Amino acid sequence: MASKIWLTLDLVETVFYLCAYEFTIRGVNSPWCRLLDDADGQVMEYSGDLKQFWKRGFGHDINSKASCILFHDLFKRLDTAANQIKSGGRVSEVVMVQVGHAETLLPLLTLLDLFKDDVPLNSSNFASHRGRAFRTGVIVPYAANLLMTLFDCPDGLRLQARLNERPLTLPGLDDLSPLYQDVRKRYKQLLQGCDQDTVCMMDSSKN
Ligand SMILES: *[C@@H]1O[C@H](CO)[C@@H](O)[C@H](O)[C@H]1NC(C)=O
Repeated sequence: MASKIWLTLDLVETVFYLCAYEFTIRGVNSPWCRLLDDADGQVMEYSGDLKQFWKRGFGHDINSKASCILFHDLFKRLDTAANQIKSGGRVSEVVMVQVGHAETLLPLLTLLDLFKDDVPLNSSNFASHRGRAFRTGVIVPYAANLLMTLFDCPDGLRLQARLNERPLTLPGLDDLSPLYQDVRKRYKQLLQGCDQDTVCMMDSSKN
């Protein structure tokens, strides 16, 4: 006798993650994967992207504004190193490593204006977002990492950003290793301050 199971989003999501985890962690083509075809996988991917878009991405302004302090910390360290290099002194902090979750990295990347689509992602425009930039499986996969490196070049200090080991073009800067002063110019407004009081007063239902 056949029994009926009502499929819910939770159940489908569980099947998708069982398939995905077994594949990525154990390299196994799990039987769970056979319950889904490519189109199902794309819809599940979009549903994950929707969640991150509204919770950590461009969906609400406050998502990325919360990373402003981290952003300032990063540029403060780069500024210190830049000044030490320029004055011919010793660089006191050659490498700095900060470890966190994708949920911290994603708002920072969003604050940097990276992976921004012209039209916001929502539940009814999946079809028009097949070629979207905001693809969290690519932006923040397992062990996602953002690397910012200063280079002392003949024409000045240059900054190279790498995301997941790949060179990254910062929006508005077409060079893969732009002059550090141009990067600072690009993010001038953010560098002027975080204004956390205003951020905390933001009404997320309106932004
Ligand atoms: C989704 O975005 C489209 C624009 O691509 C807009 O026309 C539509 O009203 C939005 N739908 C919802 C449910 O917000």
